[in-house]
Amino acid sequence: MKEDSFSVFAEYYDLFYLERKDYEKEAKIVKGIIKKLERKKSRTLLDAGCGTGEHLKYLSLDFHCTGLDINKRMIEMAKSKVLGAKFKVANMIDFKLRSRFDAIVCLFSSIGYVQRFSNLVKTLENFHGHLDDTGLVIVEPWIFRKDFKKGHISLGTYEDEELKFVRMAYSRILKSMWLIYMHYLIGKRGEIKHSSEIHKMLALDYEDYVKAFELSGFKDTTYLTENLWDGCRGLFIARK
Ligand SMILES: C[S@@+](CC[C@H](N)C(=O)[O-])C[C@H]1O[C@@H](n2cnc3c(N)ncnc32)[C@H](O)[C@@H]1O
Repeated sequence: MKEDSFSVFAEYYDLFYLERKDYEKEAKIVKGIIKKLERKKSRTLLDAGCGTGEHLKYLSLDFHCTGLDINKRMIEMAKSKVLGAKFKVANMIDFKLRSRFDAIVCLFSSIGYVQRFSNLVKTLENFHGHLDDTGLVIVEPWIFRKDFKKGHISLGTYEDEELKFVRMAYSRILKSMWLIYMHYLIGKRGEIKHSSEIHKMLALDYEDYVKAFELSGFKDTTYLTENLWDGCRGLFIARK
């Protein structure tokens, strides 16, 4: 079982999620929040953990965008579809960019992959350091620990003429980490292959996130229960 979270799934990510998530609608909600709360007109935006660049496709219509992700393949895919944006392969915990941004977003639980509370604080400090003086951060957290469903097995499929793809996953909480055991069945060219990955995520509750925002210097942390997608994550918003 591979420990590099997206080494298998990156290739199938868009096929799997584009029929489940409405990135255009999500980007519109994110833009609406920025416009409502900004103290001066926001021009620049960083998407940390941007994945294949689907939010950036729409956000780049209104902002000068930069996308950052630890996975090289994800960044290659994002680059090929969002031509006007800048991209960087880097770890959100300790990346260093020369630019400062009016807004930093970290969506669809990318933040969860920092695994530990101490890394969450480092990541938020790093976001803080890369924000302009009146900048805003918007973070869609991983599911709160209190909502962990013991024994739950998720199942998702995708199929077209050439590919049949199945993803099944179950989770365990081990001390302070939420481990997701992802199993994939990939059927193509007359063969079926099995692969698996472990996604190591934060196992934190609402209060832990609020504390991490405070410790990293953010002010006015608020939590919107308004959900971008599946009704169980919400959004943290904070100001420099
Ligand atoms: C669930 S995907 C979300 C991607 C994208 N934001 C979306 O909405 O589709 C999580 C992403 O976080 C990236 N990631 C995980 N750990 C990271 C880290 N430490 N620094 C930067 N990116 C990271 C993964 O490579 C992956 O692309």
